[in-house]
Amino acid sequence: MKITVTDLHKKRLDNQTIVMLTSYDYPTAIIEDLCGIDIQLVGDSVGTNVLGYSDVSEVTIDDMRHHLRAVSRGVKNSFILCDMPYKSFQSTEDALSTARQFMEDGADGIKIEGEGNVLEIIRHLTKGGTIPVCGHIGYKPQFDGPRARVQGKDSERAIKLCEAALALENAGAFMIVLELIPEKLAREITNLLQIPTIGIGAGRYCSGQVQVVNDILGLSNRTFRHAKEYASARGLYEQAVSSYAREVRNKAFPTQNNIAHIPDSSFSAVDTWLKNRSTFHDL
Ligand code: KIV
Repeated sequence: MKITVTDLHKKRLDNQTIVMLTSYDYPTAIIEDLCGIDIQLVGDSVGTNVLGYSDVSEVTIDDMRHHLRAVSRGVKNSFILCDMPYKSFQSTEDALSTARQFMEDGADGIKIEGEGNVLEIIRHLTKGGTIPVCGHIGYKPQFDGPRARVQGKDSERAIKLCEAALALENAGAFMIVLELIPEKLAREITNLLQIPTIGIGAGRYCSGQVQVVNDILGLSNRTFRHAKEYASARGLYEQAVSSYAREVRNKAFPTQNNIAHIPDSSFSAVDTWLKNRSTFHDL
């Protein structure tokens, strides 16, 4: 059954932890759906994890739509959340137009990075319950630069983050991502709110957790304190790709099992044609 905003709110009320994971393509979307991931986030981290960009600010609306549609084709049950990329919400009109395109492409809600600057946009998008919006505070990769830093270690910033979370909830956000915030502060923010919080590098007391799928699979050669590698997919890829290259070069692949055969009766006509053709050329 498709997961809805109401289901996510119920999970928060019932103290059931929400599981969110980024998802950028069709095969991954199918696996995440089968594994019961509550929310698949088509994050703008697709830029650095899949598209080879050096920064998420390079991600375009078209990039997001392309990956969102692929994910949406693979999902039956997960809630699909799509990131509003950098510069796609410079005005409320821009934001509405981008969000509407994402909803048409299969998103169940959108996520927007920002604090005071996005309140008006959130009010506009959520008016009449039209577009579910998830906030994103703490470290904001689109605006704070590629060097990830924990936010809210000093009292002034910590209080600002509490205020920002309350303001986002009041503006109509249905959920808020807390990125790189000290655990104690993330816990208090979660307690302040009715809506769920989803943490990444924000400790154990948020209503749910989100991770970048490449990080938990061990696909990149980077490691982060906030992440855990549950597999070494990079090692598996390297093993498979180098075995393939070696076997092609030494003629061990393809084998008898990988090939098709033409019946002798059909091939005799090809044989005759080949012979006549060389006779023709020899003339
Ligand atoms: O794009 C992304 O992967 C994100 C998560 C870090 C929350 O926004």
